[in-house]
Amino acid sequence: MIYSVSSKRGWNRATKRDLIALKDHDKDFWIRKEVLHALVLGIRDQLVVHLTGGTGVGKSTLVSVLPKNWRNLCRNIGIEYRNLVVLPVPLIHYQGPEELFTRRAIQNNGTCDEDRPPLLAAKKAMKLNGQHDVIIWFQEVGRTPPSVQNSLISGFLTDPFYDHNGKNLGRLDACVLMDSNYQDKDNGNYLLHELDAALQSRFTLQLTLDYLDQDMEKRVLRELIDVPQDQLEKLVQFTHQLRESKRAGDYKSVPFPTFRQYVALGKQAKWPDFEMEEALRTVFYGGAGQGDREKLDSEVKNLFRDIDPDSSTKTS
Ligand SMILES: Nc1ncnc2c1ncn2[C@@H]1O[C@H](COP(=O)(O)OP(=O)(O)OP(=O)(O)O)[C@@H](O)[C@H]1O
Ligand SMILES: [Mg+2]
Repeated sequence: MIYSVSSKRGWNRATKRDLIALKDHDKDFWIRKEVLHALVLGIRDQLVVHLTGGTGVGKSTLVSVLPKNWRNLCRNIGIEYRNLVVLPVPLIHYQGPEELFTRRAIQNNGTCDEDRPPLLAAKKAMKLNGQHDVIIWFQEVGRTPPSVQNSLISGFLTDPFYDHNGKNLGRLDACVLMDSNYQDKDNGNYLLHELDAALQSRFTLQLTLDYLDQDMEKRVLRELIDVPQDQLEKLVQFTHQLRESKRAGDYKSVPFPTFRQYVALGKQAKWPDFEMEEALRTVFYGGAGQGDREKLDSEVKNLFRDIDPDSSTKTS
């Protein structure tokens, strides 16, 4: 079942495995209640959170939609409301440990040490402390060189925390959240760097976002994509078969099907002369190697063999 975050009754009724619909700009974001619940409490308790899961499962989107859903979440869980501030730090920009802190800059005809965004975020978090819930969000640890991962420990995960010169910067009163897709590294995700074991040992809340199961995905897609029900069934059958095949090591040149593609397919569904078979190809595997494309073309053909092309039963 799916319950809206704005209904406390719905929240209470939802089981751990049910989905909660969070408010995004113009659409919803769906997440299992148990993961969401733990995440909210972990943020309040300033734990070191590792949010992991395959590419496109919605890690980044989840963190960015938290602030606008925070009041409802606090109310549903029964904790006092405070404003939630998310301070994102895209780790992908940093190649070496010292880059996390300061750099030499010219100012008033002289030079000075200018704070870089990670240090700025930390200082901002320390100022906000008390009246707010704060997340320092280190994005994409999977694309972060080991030396930077390591300096995250000495720099941001000690209490007090220290800069690269060993200067004591005080107490970082914030939840540190890192996202990555390490959890899915055997399932066709491409990771640039290994997860540093010492960093891993600092995580005090480890949460995995999973791809939705077939049934849940169908329910969600009914709200996201406007196509006839039988076509929607085939779509989900196709993506789940493809995920399974990829897990088994097949279709190496085809990317893992994710929500990103569903969103794109939803857009194509509004194009004139939309055809699901054609869309599956262009959205999910049109850029794959020739062998994989041919195999998938014939899988798609089989899948659609029994569909009436004039079908006009639109989903709601
Ligand atoms: N459960 C979901 N509900 C609604 N939309 C979703 C869901 N999961 C993913 N999406 C959509 O899919 C797209 C990709 O999600 P996002 O970038 O957050 O994934 P990610 O886990 O951060 O991936 P990556 O590991 O590649 O950074 C976004 O447009 C997002 O809104
Ligand atoms: Mg992401």
